[in-house]
Amino acid sequence: MSNYHIKHLEEYYQVYRKSVRNPEVFWEEIAEEHFMWRKKWDKVLSWDFTKPEVKWFEGAKLNITENCIDRHLYTRGDKTAIIFEPNNPEEEAQHISYRELHEKVCRFANVLKAKGIQKGDRVCIYLPMIPELAISMLACARIGAIHSIVFAGFSSTALASRINDATCKMVITSDGSYRGAKTIDLQGIVDDALEKCECVESVLVVKRINSEIRMKEDRDEWVQPLLDNANTDCEPEIMDAEDSLFILYTSGSTGKPKGMLHTTAGYMVYTAYTFKNVFQYREKDVYWCSADIGWITGHSYIVYGPLCNGATSIMFEGVPSYPDFGRFWDIVDKHKVSQFYTAPTAIRALAKEGVEHVAKHDLSTLKVLGTVGEPINEEAWHWYDDNVGKRKAPIVDTYFQTENGGIMLTPIPYVTPTKPTYATLPFIGIQPCLMDENGVELNGNQVEGKLCIKFPWPSIARTIWGDHQRYKDTYFSAYENKYFTGDGALRDEVGYYRITGRVDDVIIVSGHNLGTAPIEDAINEHPAVAESAIVGFPHDIKGNALYGYVTLKETGESRNHDNLRKEINQIITEQIGPIAKLDKVQFTNGLPKTRSGKIMRRILRKIAGKDGDNLGDISTLLNPEVVQDIKDNVL
Ligand code: WTA
Repeated sequence: MSNYHIKHLEEYYQVYRKSVRNPEVFWEEIAEEHFMWRKKWDKVLSWDFTKPEVKWFEGAKLNITENCIDRHLYTRGDKTAIIFEPNNPEEEAQHISYRELHEKVCRFANVLKAKGIQKGDRVCIYLPMIPELAISMLACARIGAIHSIVFAGFSSTALASRINDATCKMVITSDGSYRGAKTIDLQGIVDDALEKCECVESVLVVKRINSEIRMKEDRDEWVQPLLDNANTDCEPEIMDAEDSLFILYTSGSTGKPKGMLHTTAGYMVYTAYTFKNVFQYREKDVYWCSADIGWITGHSYIVYGPLCNGATSIMFEGVPSYPDFGRFWDIVDKHKVSQFYTAPTAIRALAKEGVEHVAKHDLSTLKVLGTVGEPINEEAWHWYDDNVGKRKAPIVDTYFQTENGGIMLTPIPYVTPTKPTYATLPFIGIQPCLMDENGVELNGNQVEGKLCIKFPWPSIARTIWGDHQRYKDTYFSAYENKYFTGDGALRDEVGYYRITGRVDDVIIVSGHNLGTAPIEDAINEHPAVAESAIVGFPHDIKGNALYGYVTLKETGESRNHDNLRKEINQIITEQIGPIAKLDKVQFTNGLPKTRSGKIMRRILRKIAGKDGDNLGDISTLLNPEVVQDIKDNVL
């Protein structure tokens, strides 16, 4: 019998040891007993981090949607798979059963096929949090097409670069989206993007807000009439274990986003197994992850992980502040949510509004609370514990990355004693280590270093779409034979891990990964700008906010600085999206540089964080004189 569901701490340690000593035997048992295979594997694992190459369950045949949907039809056909909670609380929630989901996915899959989409083709999905988002992604998986979901807050330029990078043949979007009191013209953004994309042959449009939109003939089509006429059954494409499932973009330290490629079997096994244990999901529970499916958390823990376990998973279209700051708690109360999973930035924003919004609602059904995406500070942790969980629902601080596919470090609720701000212990099968600045692994406890993983786990991304060299350089070159996360971490006296933050040029703002390079590239497009550098600085709600140092081409530039700030943020919004806007922009006469011309962000980070008296030796800089001036004018 495999240990699919871990129930106490001793069992965790015992299963963990097994998973590390004999990973192949361990994962084979999990895979064998809890999933539906058309053919079993020939080999559980082959790997080589120097290439790098990782293969799990080679030779196996399956379709992930059979695991997420079909196999539940016999036992859970009438069980709700997805609860759709609309932006507007006056609009009725939808309950989609497993049987209905099967029909909807099959219809959508047949529409894709009729439009000429085949196994291996890339389909870009640019949709708000409406059921069609989950349905269309599953429809892609049903026929073996590779979905590339782009978060619907990205701008047309960002969308275009992602569509082109993956040479998508089709885009699926909607006539618009609701976001609190606002509507957003998604199809207009797609229209603009497609001016720059030659690869796209067709666009399917979901009707959501009944807006007047221009359909481009021979390219755009309403999807509903096609769905109405489509067959309700669709034979799944039988996939190899290592066939591609999806691409999901994440920021990196150069301008180009990285299309992380995930494959089928390993991703399925790991996301399902982590979901079951990290949330201790039981048959009658209603689970809610408030992330957007446009991020990895939504892929793995709204759709694939929960559905693979036959769970009921909520999709929420709106925002935590609409119609008021009690909306999250209203939803928990209304749908009797058992597990609630959100981001620290949301907790901080809601904590600021006072406990009266929470107190009004009955939250007694909550058994597990989760956080993800950025470090959670102690204050927010306690607020969540005291006011939402009433100290009865353990908090799982889950650490992982787009590249990882599934949760890597986490307590298991009711199993691992929690500790505020600590992601605590590695999940089963995960072998973390900390490296010092000389590239030597730190042994023992009470150490701090760079977080790496020593051994492959089933859902590790297999490559960067179209750029395997970059995959190798970014993740497997810093330390020999190890996957490097880009995060710093410490290990306390009992072996618990705490993430200390990124150690590269990625800044996490409100839980969103932002690379400094693409933002700087955008700013530098402003005709008055000579140079710029972005750093993060602590922010009460966002965790980090962005601070821009900008040098103008003409010194003594007489233009109005406030206008320039607005124009700079406008360019960033157009090129990337509003999430990357700068909170502060300081105009400088120069940027501190090393003798080889590299911008010294460390110094800029300290100044922005109001720690400018503590810069250490700056005499080796090429231009130490600019530092005083920057300090004197800090915002
Ligand atoms: C950060 C999000 C601290 C980390 C699932 C990582 C965290 C990056 C945590 C990945 C956490 C994620 N505590 N930091 N519990 N979870 N991070 O790819 O810096 O959007 O490298 O995946 O978020 O962000 P991504």
